[in-house]
Amino acid sequence: MKFFIDTANLAQIKEAQDLGVLDGVTTNPSLMAKEGIKGQENILKHYVDICDIVTGDVSAEVISTDFDGMVKEGEALAKLHPRIVVKIPMIKDGIKAIKYFTEQGIKTNCTLVFSAGQALLAAKAGATYMSPFIGRLDDVSTDGLKLIEDIRIIYDNYGYETEILAASVRHPMHIIECAKIGADVITAPLSAITALLKHPLTDSGLAQFLADAKK
Ligand code: E4P
Repeated sequence: MKFFIDTANLAQIKEAQDLGVLDGVTTNPSLMAKEGIKGQENILKHYVDICDIVTGDVSAEVISTDFDGMVKEGEALAKLHPRIVVKIPMIKDGIKAIKYFTEQGIKTNCTLVFSAGQALLAAKAGATYMSPFIGRLDDVSTDGLKLIEDIRIIYDNYGYETEILAASVRHPMHIIECAKIGADVITAPLSAITALLKHPLTDSGLAQFLADAKK
């Protein structure tokens, strides 16, 4: 399973990259705003800065909602760096834009997926990645992980190559459950990834070994 980090914070991206387990980055307009990145020029530069830190795919989201706008924006994003994946919302024109980019050989990430039907459409349009938001589904009392299970079955039934990118991951158990189901990728905050490291028995066991080593 691939690990993507879900942030636009360069220090956190570098920390995850240095850990040696990072396969890519996802961003969105809210994450860019959180880092105080404003203005088109600064936003484009920030994407390049991210691409220069990592060795994997970097999702950069369009903000247009019509086909022509998404194509224009997506083409400009794709030209920034070979690692850029154009992130496109799951709307009617978004599906058309994904199909267009697929035919151009440009990678896409279909975002804001909340149902199996949406996931099916994204795969048929040829999306490289398709992002179901599991945490946001949990927030409205709907089982986000069950959606990942359903999409896994559907994609396997037909051999779709679109990768299931479990997004809106909130904690380490989301990551573990996604791995059990067979999600291709998870994107998570750094805190959820580093939480996988932790176990009290590891800490107490190491403390004991280090104490015994001094004897
Ligand atoms: C995915 O690509 C999104 O950036 C992200 O996972 C959204 O997560 P949130 O629900 O924590 O905002």
